[in-house]
Amino acid sequence: MIGRLNHVAIAVPDLDAATARYRDRLGARVSEPVPLAEHGVTTVFIELPNTKIELLEPLGAESPIAAFLERNPDGGIHHLCYEVDDVAAASAALAESGIRVLGSGEPKRGAHDKPVVFLHPKDFFGTLIELEQA
Ligand code: CO
Repeated sequence: MIGRLNHVAIAVPDLDAATARYRDRLGARVSEPVPLAEHGVTTVFIELPNTKIELLEPLGAESPIAAFLERNPDGGIHHLCYEVDDVAAASAALAESGIRVLGSGEPKRGAHDKPVVFLHPKDFFGTLIELEQA
């Protein structure tokens, strides 16, 4: 089921500052900020040769990362995203096996305009997992 590591997501309190740090200090290729209202975040993607880093800043009052940043005011690793061939089938199979799929369990459109679901961190050793259609 599990495929490539698509990205590592890092929640940050200041997206512009974090983007500049990666671009100017590490020489990283960074995207323009992309607001994702449905997910309550603004994202910047950093392209690495073998994967991506997704910087996340809260968007709106209901942002799902607001509480995370309250607990981690400097920012921190928020989730890992693995690719799967069929996210709907993976979600159904995992739910049937007792893994908690967040929300309705129905895939939503993610940052790359591909279907994604999230899996409960308590079922994956303290790490929030995103599955994205490959
Ligand atoms: Co992500």
